[in-house]
Amino acid sequence: MKILAIESSCDETACAIVEDGVKILSNVVASSKELHHKYGGIMPELAAREQLSSILPVIKEALKVLPQEKNHILTISKHIDAIAITIGPGLIGSLLIGVETAKTMAMLTGVPIIPVNHVLAHMYANFIDSRQSSVVSHQKNTNNSLKAEDRNLPAGKAGLIAFSAISLVVSGGHTELYLMKSPNKLTWLGGTLDDAAGECFDKTARLLGFGNEGGVAIAKAAKWHHPSKKPSIIKLPRPMLDEKNEYNFSFSGLKSAIVRLVTTLKAKTSDQSLTPDVIAHLAYETQDAITDVLVKKTLMAAKKHNAKSILLSGGVAANIKLREKFVTHMKQSQSSLSFHVPPVELCTDNAVYIASCAYFLGKTDSWQKIAAAPDLSVEINLVKEAF
Ligand code: KG4
Ligand code: ZN
Repeated sequence: MKILAIESSCDETACAIVEDGVKILSNVVASSKELHHKYGGIMPELAAREQLSSILPVIKEALKVLPQEKNHILTISKHIDAIAITIGPGLIGSLLIGVETAKTMAMLTGVPIIPVNHVLAHMYANFIDSRQSSVVSHQKNTNNSLKAEDRNLPAGKAGLIAFSAISLVVSGGHTELYLMKSPNKLTWLGGTLDDAAGECFDKTARLLGFGNEGGVAIAKAAKWHHPSKKPSIIKLPRPMLDEKNEYNFSFSGLKSAIVRLVTTLKAKTSDQSLTPDVIAHLAYETQDAITDVLVKKTLMAAKKHNAKSILLSGGVAANIKLREKFVTHMKQSQSSLSFHVPPVELCTDNAVYIASCAYFLGKTDSWQKIAAAPDLSVEINLVKEAF
């Protein structure tokens, strides 16, 4: 089954075609990130305008892998089995562009449409076959209906995941823990009570003068600090590691601690205080504190639920230190857990995992019922069908 997915929840406009939830046929992403730099954060209005100008070119590019018919409507109706669309959570202006485009495509082509929850979808990046083939099957699947039992069948990379799994989705706006008993049985365990881990990375990056480059900039700067060579002058808290808050996270206290520290440092020796060395040290400690909490709490949840696997996903999963720390902790505790994390390019926003999620978890709906849902809940308990 070939699913064409569209993602437009924030500042990325993406379209992908994925076969059977695991095989990437095309993956196109346009980002307006650069344009927001001078504003010190994402400007929703600007993001929506960019979505509008990018969406059709991005879809057209993704369609190039399909045999070309007389027009795009025919290409889609002949070769695509379902259209998956992110309906939320996200920015309303951005979401509307993708949602209304997908609805129009479904209306014109008669292809079924599947609404997708962006946050849940992130974890399905772990199901993608990372050997990625660009071979296109020219034969459209004649069976257009999505059967739940088909979606239970492990395929490609999904077949390598042992269940139950503990899934940590850690992105710009979310830090959520799920128990995944099978590809379509999900229970939300907990999440952040305030800021998300990605937000903490982003705000620290801004404070240290890295503009909007967020976690990537912090990770780069942290590399310049070598704790074995320099005694630590900075110590940040590791919030919520106690048993009482087993599945919840809180990063706003950590963020405030960083703000206080930077303010004090600035006051101490005027503008000389934030030297490149100190910035590297702060970046290192921030990354260390955030990743400590994420790893420890996820492993605690895995132990509690007797899980066989850990699935890491979301933009922050691109962080190398986080990936390494999971592996190190698991080795140290001689854990038999298997650890899964998508390739870096599938961690940040794209439409590949939207298609995969639609395949394993989604349910078709009539296009008239699909609507953008900026506040769509992620606290979901799915024992069978989806959203
Ligand atoms: O999943 P995503 O692309 O968008 C949302 O759905 O929010 O995640 C974006 C977040 C941002 O906070 C960004 O700073 C963070 O992912 N991020 C990273 C890295 N790459 C992206 N955080 C830490 N280290 C990275 N290498
Ligand atoms: Zn995302």
